[in-house]
Amino acid sequence: MNFLEIINRRESIRSYDPTKQIPEDVLLYILEAGRLAPSAANFQPWQFVVVSSPEKLAAVRSTYPRAWFAEAPQVLIVTGNKEKAWKRADGYNSIETDLTIAMDHLILAAESQGLGTCWIANFDYPALRSVLQLTENEVIFAMTPLGYPKTGFVKKSHKLRKPIDDVVKFI
Ligand SMILES: Cc1cc2nc3c(=O)[nH]c(=O)nc-3n(C[C@H](O)[C@H](O)[C@H](O)COP(=O)(O)O)c2cc1C
Repeated sequence: MNFLEIINRRESIRSYDPTKQIPEDVLLYILEAGRLAPSAANFQPWQFVVVSSPEKLAAVRSTYPRAWFAEAPQVLIVTGNKEKAWKRADGYNSIETDLTIAMDHLILAAESQGLGTCWIANFDYPALRSVLQLTENEVIFAMTPLGYPKTGFVKKSHKLRKPIDDVVKFI
C-alpha cells in the first residue's frame, strides 16, 4: 500500500473482534511511528499509554461507554505535559498540535498494519484524567481503540469529503 492508499483506507472503525489480540511486533511498529512524529522544538512532550490490563480497560471504557468501544482488546491514549511543550513568546503552547500529530502518526501506522482505530475526543475528561492519575500539567486530547475490525465488517466505499477545489487555494 502506498501512503495515499493508507490514508484512503483509514476510516473510523466502530466494530472490533474482541478475540483477536494484537501481536507485540505490530504494536511496537505502531508505537515507533508515534515516537518518530515531529514536535515543536523537538521537545516530544508526549506519552503513549497502551491500555491492556482488564482493570484499566474497564476503567478507561467507563469514560466512553459504547458497546463497540469495549470490543477492542486495547486502547491507546496519547497524553502530554504542557510544561514540557514548546511555548512561543506570545503564550502559544504547542502541546495540542504536538499530540495531535503523534496521534495521526499512530493511527495511520495502525491502518498500515490492518488494525482499526477511531479517534475519540468525546470521553469523560475528568474521569479519564483520574483513571490515568495525571498530574496538573498533563493533558489528553484523544484516545483510540486498537484492534482488528470484526470479520465481515465492510469499510465505506468512498470518503465523504469536500471537493479539492473547496479546500485548496492556489495564490
Ligand atoms: C478530533 C476528533 C474527535 C473525534 N471524536 C470522536 C468521538 O468521540 N467518537 C467517535 O465515534 N468518533 C469521533 N471522531 C471520528 C470522526 O467522527 C470521524 O473521523 C469523521 O466523521 C470522519 O470519518 P472517518 O474517520 O471514517 O474518515 C473524532 C474525530 C476527530 C478528528
